[in-house]
Amino acid sequence: MASLGVNIDHIANVRQARRTVEPDPVSFALLAELGGADAITVHLREDRRHIQDRDVELLRQTVRSRLNLEMAATAEMEAIALRIRPDMVTLVPEKRQEITTEGGLDVAGQQPAFSALVGALQDAGIGVSLFVDAEESQLEASRATGARWVELHTGAYAEASWSSQPAELARLTEGSFIARSLGLRVNAGHGLTYQNVEPIAAIEGIEELNIGHTIVVRALAVGLEVAVRQMKALIQNPRRDPLFGSRQL
Ligand code: PXP
Repeated sequence: MASLGVNIDHIANVRQARRTVEPDPVSFALLAELGGADAITVHLREDRRHIQDRDVELLRQTVRSRLNLEMAATAEMEAIALRIRPDMVTLVPEKRQEITTEGGLDVAGQQPAFSALVGALQDAGIGVSLFVDAEESQLEASRATGARWVELHTGAYAEASWSSQPAELARLTEGSFIARSLGLRVNAGHGLTYQNVEPIAAIEGIEELNIGHTIVVRALAVGLEVAVRQMKALIQNPRRDPLFGSRQL
């Protein structure tokens, strides 16, 4: 049975939209753990568009499950990872213009550079996973870097039309098989939803799914009604001395 890494980048997105202090992804990580998250995943992007350095530092101190830091393969991020020491680093490609991670890493094209980075992180006791498409050449190159894990990119499956989804599912199933035959451990993620997750969760050998956007969307959907009721209660029955203490609603 696959475990669940909850990606909380979108909590930070809401905060950064106002450059304020809430919602704090650190407290929401705790709620995700209360809900059963087996790991907390955050992507510290070069442009710091959502998760901030302070978030990663505090998460390292507070996460009781496992902290998975997604990051680009850069010298800046390597230094941060070596200082903070997450349980796992997932290396991802990163482009400034993209809305979210678009494709898998080209490990085959830059294998020596990846090998050096993977070695440095693993020597520091940090697990390393490479986010790749389910292609044999990328899986073989990933193995050659010395990394123990790959995360299979499920974006093409998630975006596929109803008729082409079975082919994408077959590609991921085969990718998982090839990766494990090479001795790699296998995670998967990107674009998974409440509607499309089950066939991926049923693929043999996939150990962990990293899921973010759809969980935050569901949280809004199931939480908004209560949030509006609580605000209406305050407006309809305001206290005259509201400055001290918060109210139980
Ligand atoms: N895995 C990786 C490597 C990612 O980059 C992302 C997005 O940050 C995810 C999983 C989660 O994707 P989603 O938010 O679509 O569930």
